[in-house]
Parts: sequence; C-alpha cells; structure tokens
Amino acid sequence: MSAPVIVLVGPMGSGKSTVGELLAQRLGVPYRDTDADIVAAEGREIADIFVTDGEPRFRELERAAVRDAVAGHTGVLALGGGAILDESTRALLDGLPVVYLSLEVEEAVRRTGLNQARPLLAVNPRRQWRELMDARRHLYTEVARAVVATDERTPEEVAQAVLDAL
Ligand code: S3P
Repeated sequence: MSAPVIVLVGPMGSGKSTVGELLAQRLGVPYRDTDADIVAAEGREIADIFVTDGEPRFRELERAAVRDAVAGHTGVLALGGGAILDESTRALLDGLPVVYLSLEVEEAVRRTGLNQARPLLAVNPRRQWRELMDARRHLYTEVARAVVATDERTPEEVAQAVLDAL
C-alpha cells in the first residue's frame, strides 16, 4: 500500500509548506499540500470557498483531499492547519508518520499578523490565535507521532528535527 512518508500538521504559519518542500527535496520524493489540491480541484481560492460556501463545506472538501492524498501519495504531505478538526479526517491519519509542527501564540501572531487571505485570522489575530490554539492543541497532539517546536528555528533546523524525531 502506498502512503505518505511524512505528514505535517500544525497551525497556519508553522512552516508546513516550507519545511515540507525542504524535506521532500532532501528525501528525493514529491511534495504535496492539501490546500493546493483543493484550490486546484475547485478552481478558486480557499478564502473564496470559506466566504461563499462556509467552513463546513471547506472541511468536507478537505476531508476528500486528505483521503485522496493519503491513498495516492508516497512523498511528504502537508495538511491545512484546521484539517485535524474533522473526526473523519483525523481517522484517515491513523498509523501514519504524522509530525506536529508547533508554534507559540505570540510567534504565530508575529508570523501571520492580520491576514486577509487567511479567513480565520482576518479580524483580531491575537484573540483568534489564542482561541484557535486552545481548541486545537490537543487534536494536533492526538494525531501526531512526534512534536517539533518551530519557534526560533530556521526551516532547515525544523526539517532536521523532523527527520530526527521519526
Ligand atoms: C486553515 C488553515 C489554512 C487553510 C484554511 C483554514 C485553518 O491552511 O486550510 O485557511 O483552519 O487553520 P494553512 O495552515 O496551510 O495556512
């Protein structure tokens, strides 16, 4: 059975895409990102899907994207920051080498700021970040085989820490 060699989860701004691409390069395998898969399949941006169809519809599309990627991708896979909110999506990750890239709230605010392209941070980033992490921290931990802190580390250092952790 084919399956991803590494699955990265973690909040927006934790560096999943940058670190995922670095890891894919180092391992000589392809990189895939479920946000990009959704944008390609839908032919529109994520913010547009959130605003037009709502978050529940986005989570459905995300579940389908994770299901396809888990079944058909043998490289490094990065999931959108909220993918772990959906119980069926979490179940798809069972038994996979999932790494949680963690990030402190203050660092998250610094990295992402007021972000119109990220609908979940478009109003009051500090408060939204705190609420978001309070709701999600335990879910990231639940699905992950290893946790790698990304604060004060370069993407190269994070990539190395991921390889060391697995
Ligand atoms: C989201 C994270 C985003 C994207 C969407 C929702 C979230 O992905 O899937 O805006 O709920 O945290 P990134 O973590 O890749 O930014």
